[in-house]
Amino acid sequence: MKAPDQHQAFSEDGDVLDGLRRLGLLEDSERPELTPLTGGVSSEIWKVSSARGEFCVKRALARLRVAAVWEAPLERSHFEAEWMRVAGSIRPDNVPELLAEDVASHLVVMRFLPPADYPLWKAQLRDGHADPAFAAKVGEALVAIHAATADDPAIAARFATDAAFHAIRLEPYLEATASRHENVADRLFELSRTTAGTKRCLVHGDVSPKNILAGAGGPVFLDAECAWFGDPAFDLAFVLNHLLLKCMWTPAAGEKFLDCFAALIAAYVAGVTWEPAQALEERAAALLPGLMLARIDGKSPVEYITAEADKDRVRGFAIPLLQRPATTLADIAAAWRLEISR
Ligand SMILES: Nc1ncnc2c1ncn2[C@@H]1O[C@H](COP(=O)(O)OP(=O)(O)OP(=O)(O)O)[C@@H](O)[C@H]1O
Ligand SMILES: [Mg+2]
Repeated sequence: MKAPDQHQAFSEDGDVLDGLRRLGLLEDSERPELTPLTGGVSSEIWKVSSARGEFCVKRALARLRVAAVWEAPLERSHFEAEWMRVAGSIRPDNVPELLAEDVASHLVVMRFLPPADYPLWKAQLRDGHADPAFAAKVGEALVAIHAATADDPAIAARFATDAAFHAIRLEPYLEATASRHENVADRLFELSRTTAGTKRCLVHGDVSPKNILAGAGGPVFLDAECAWFGDPAFDLAFVLNHLLLKCMWTPAAGEKFLDCFAALIAAYVAGVTWEPAQALEERAAALLPGLMLARIDGKSPVEYITAEADKDRVRGFAIPLLQRPATTLADIAAAWRLEISR
């Protein structure tokens, strides 16, 4: 798909403009100013400046802009909107306000959060700005959404996205990685099955620093296309994985990232109400090395670990932990601290 030019009108087919008109967000004759927002691989996303004000419009792409072939069902757009409705009712300050959804054209329209007030957490981490108090707020907000939706049959029915979650999370991360690591392939498939079979809470599915805006009042979670009623340990392990891998991106801030790691866990664990926190932590600790390896050898490798020697360090760290899982996340952090200080 052609990348949008600056201030370009929406794609030739006019779907998006039609969708916005159907939603009553544009006048019939209006040609709004559209600015593409960069950063996403799975959608087209623009800031729209119209007579009604500024908003952000997002349309799902059928094929993701990653090197490996990775198709994702367009219906994920609807589940992103659904997640915003549910999570926004629980934690309105941590979710962008949903303004409208056009199911037919897979459009989600939300409040535009200006970068000056809402910088991307990923950019802050890259620059070595890692604040444990902010990480704690991420853990606290995430667990609040998990706790409020735990064991809720209505939420389970609304987010019965098991097939999509398998197709866009478990397969490209854990299972695709298994095909490159025969010695831990069974373990990776086992993790995939255990995760798929654990149905407890509303999971965001992509809690990555690139999907978290760092507002003054705390995190705002974007990009809930992978929303699923399933294992909350996945969200916890997913975000923690990013904090570990960032140590290889910005080594000088390694200790601060590990402080963030600990602060996020402490805040998260304090809010686990639906099961023993230890059980959840064990699942997260089991998943974490699988996700680390997946971000090196799965279908969506992190773009900032490029040197083969660095990739080998992550592999050499994660594989033994897959073979002999740690029971606590702190044990993994302690081992990683040793690894990165070498
Ligand atoms: N409501 C918003 N206000 C301001 N900026 C936003 C908003 N939503 C998204 N963005 C910006 O657009 C980027 C991409 O958004 P998003 O993550 O939702 O798209 P995506 O294509 O699904 O991404 P991914 O590559 O993670 O799949 C974000 O990182 C952020 O910088
Ligand atoms: Mg994103």
